[in-house]
Amino acid sequence: MNLSELHHPISTIINNNTQIREEKLLSICHLLNTSISYYNWVGFYFANHEIQTLHLGPYVGAETDHTVIPFGKGICGQVAVSNANFVVPDVSAQDNYIACSITVKSEIVVPIFVDGINIGQIDIDSHTINAFTVEDEQFLEYVCKEISYVY
Ligand code: SME
Repeated sequence: MNLSELHHPISTIINNNTQIREEKLLSICHLLNTSISYYNWVGFYFANHEIQTLHLGPYVGAETDHTVIPFGKGICGQVAVSNANFVVPDVSAQDNYIACSITVKSEIVVPIFVDGINIGQIDIDSHTINAFTVEDEQFLEYVCKEISYVY
Protein backbone atom coordinates (compact mmCIF):
# COMPACT_ATOMS: atom_id res chain seq x y z
CA MET A 1 0.00 0.00 0.00
CA ASN A 2 1.34 3.38 -1.03
CA LEU A 3 0.85 5.65 1.99
CA SER A 4 -0.35 8.55 -0.17
CA GLU A 5 -3.33 6.40 -1.24
CA LEU A 6 -4.61 6.85 2.31
CA HIS A 7 -4.76 10.66 2.14
CA HIS A 8 -8.19 10.65 0.54
CA PRO A 9 -9.84 8.12 2.91
CA ILE A 10 -8.41 10.02 5.89
CA SER A 11 -9.81 13.36 4.79
CA THR A 12 -13.14 11.60 4.10
CA ILE A 13 -13.22 10.41 7.73
CA ILE A 14 -12.29 13.86 9.02
CA ASN A 15 -15.04 15.52 6.96
CA ASN A 16 -17.73 12.93 7.78
CA ASN A 17 -20.25 14.86 9.79
CA THR A 18 -22.12 11.75 10.94
CA GLN A 19 -19.24 10.84 13.26
CA ILE A 20 -18.18 12.64 16.41
CA ARG A 21 -14.48 13.33 16.98
CA GLU A 22 -13.79 10.17 19.01
CA GLU A 23 -15.40 8.03 16.30
CA LYS A 24 -13.30 9.71 13.62
CA LEU A 25 -10.15 8.98 15.59
CA LEU A 26 -11.14 5.34 16.02
CA SER A 27 -11.95 5.08 12.30
CA ILE A 28 -8.48 6.40 11.51
CA CYS A 29 -6.94 3.79 13.84
CA HIS A 30 -8.86 1.02 12.03
CA LEU A 31 -7.97 2.37 8.59
CA LEU A 32 -4.26 2.55 9.36
CA ASN A 33 -4.14 -0.79 11.18
CA THR A 34 -5.95 -2.67 8.39
CA SER A 35 -4.22 -0.92 5.46
CA ILE A 36 -0.60 -1.00 6.56
CA SER A 37 0.72 -4.44 7.46
CA TYR A 38 3.41 -3.20 9.85
CA TYR A 39 1.13 -0.80 11.82
CA ASN A 40 0.22 -3.36 14.48
CA TRP A 41 -0.98 -1.04 17.27
CA VAL A 42 -2.38 2.36 16.36
CA GLY A 43 -3.62 4.78 18.98
CA PHE A 44 -3.79 8.29 20.35
CA TYR A 45 -2.69 9.93 23.57
CA PHE A 46 -3.91 13.40 24.54
CA ALA A 47 -2.20 15.84 26.89
CA ASN A 48 -3.52 17.33 30.09
CA HIS A 49 -1.09 20.22 30.41
CA GLU A 50 -2.27 21.16 33.91
CA ILE A 51 -1.25 17.84 35.43
CA GLN A 52 1.47 17.09 32.84
CA THR A 53 0.11 13.72 31.78
CA LEU A 54 -0.93 11.95 28.60
CA HIS A 55 -4.22 10.06 28.48
CA LEU A 56 -5.02 7.15 26.19
CA GLY A 57 -7.58 7.95 23.51
CA PRO A 58 -9.04 5.73 20.79
CA TYR A 59 -6.80 2.85 19.72
CA VAL A 60 -6.78 -0.44 17.83
CA GLY A 61 -4.58 -3.34 18.86
CA ALA A 62 -3.65 -5.12 22.05
CA GLU A 63 -5.09 -3.69 25.26
CA THR A 64 -2.57 -1.59 27.18
CA ASP A 65 -2.15 -0.92 30.90
CA HIS A 66 -0.58 2.44 30.06
CA THR A 67 -3.68 4.60 30.00
CA VAL A 68 -1.96 7.53 31.74
CA ILE A 69 1.68 8.45 31.01
CA PRO A 70 3.50 11.28 32.81
CA PHE A 71 5.20 13.87 30.58
CA GLY A 72 8.83 12.82 30.08
CA LYS A 73 8.21 9.12 30.61
CA GLY A 74 8.56 6.62 27.76
CA ILE A 75 8.63 7.52 24.10
CA CYS A 76 5.20 9.13 24.32
CA GLY A 77 6.05 11.21 27.38
CA GLN A 78 9.26 12.43 25.74
CA VAL A 79 7.33 13.61 22.66
CA ALA A 80 4.93 15.51 24.94
CA VAL A 81 7.98 17.52 26.08
CA SER A 82 10.13 17.67 22.91
CA ASN A 83 7.30 18.50 20.45
CA ALA A 84 9.21 16.44 17.89
CA ASN A 85 8.61 13.16 16.06
CA PHE A 86 10.28 10.16 17.70
CA VAL A 87 11.17 7.12 15.59
CA VAL A 88 12.48 4.12 17.52
CA PRO A 89 13.96 1.50 15.17
CA ASP A 90 14.63 -0.98 18.02
CA VAL A 91 12.71 -0.53 21.25
CA SER A 92 15.08 -2.87 23.11
CA ALA A 93 17.84 -0.27 22.65
CA GLN A 94 15.84 2.52 24.37
CA ASP A 95 16.41 3.40 28.04
CA ASN A 96 13.31 5.55 28.51
CA TYR A 97 10.75 3.20 27.01
CA ILE A 98 7.46 1.82 28.35
CA ALA A 99 6.92 -1.72 27.07
CA CYS A 100 3.34 -2.67 26.31
CA SER A 101 4.06 -6.07 24.80
CA ILE A 102 7.15 -8.12 24.01
CA THR A 103 5.89 -8.48 20.44
CA VAL A 104 6.60 -4.77 19.79
CA LYS A 105 9.94 -4.21 18.06
CA SER A 106 9.75 -0.63 16.77
CA GLU A 107 7.64 2.45 17.39
CA ILE A 108 6.86 5.89 15.98
CA VAL A 109 5.21 8.81 17.76
CA VAL A 110 4.20 12.02 15.96
CA PRO A 111 2.75 15.03 17.82
CA ILE A 112 -0.55 16.73 16.96
CA PHE A 113 -0.43 20.54 17.00
CA VAL A 114 -3.43 22.84 17.32
CA ASP A 115 -2.60 26.54 17.13
CA GLY A 116 1.04 25.65 17.76
CA ILE A 117 0.26 23.70 20.96
CA ASN A 118 1.20 20.02 21.24
CA ILE A 119 -2.19 18.60 22.26
CA GLY A 120 -1.38 14.93 21.87
CA GLN A 121 0.06 12.39 19.52
CA ILE A 122 -0.43 9.38 17.33
CA ASP A 123 1.50 6.34 18.53
CA ILE A 124 2.18 3.32 16.32
CA ASP A 125 3.86 0.08 17.35
CA SER A 126 5.20 -2.49 14.94
CA HIS A 127 6.08 -6.15 15.36
CA THR A 128 8.79 -5.56 12.75
CA ILE A 129 12.16 -4.17 13.72
CA ASN A 130 13.10 -0.87 12.03
CA ALA A 131 9.65 -0.65 10.43
CA PHE A 132 9.34 3.12 10.04
CA THR A 133 10.90 5.39 7.43
CA VAL A 134 10.79 9.09 6.69
CA GLU A 135 7.77 8.33 4.47
CA ASP A 136 5.88 7.11 7.53
CA GLU A 137 6.88 10.26 9.41
CA GLN A 138 5.64 12.50 6.59
CA PHE A 139 2.45 10.48 6.20
CA LEU A 140 1.70 10.64 9.94
CA GLU A 141 2.39 14.39 9.95
CA TYR A 142 -0.33 14.63 7.30
CA VAL A 143 -2.67 12.52 9.48
CA CYS A 144 -1.99 14.73 12.52
CA LYS A 145 -2.60 17.89 10.47
CA GLU A 146 -5.97 16.53 9.31
CA ILE A 147 -6.86 15.65 12.91
CA SER A 148 -6.02 19.18 14.02
CA TYR A 149 -8.99 20.39 11.90
CA VAL A 150 -11.47 18.68 14.24
CA TYR A 151 -10.11 20.50 17.33
N1 SME B 1 5.71 2.43 24.22
C1 SME B 1 5.12 3.66 24.64
C2 SME B 1 3.97 3.44 25.58
C3 SME B 1 2.67 3.37 24.93
S1 SME B 1 2.35 1.89 24.20
O1 SME B 1 3.25 1.71 23.06
C4 SME B 1 0.79 1.70 23.75
C5 SME B 1 6.15 4.56 25.27
O2 SME B 1 7.28 4.16 25.52
O3 SME B 1 5.81 5.72 25.57
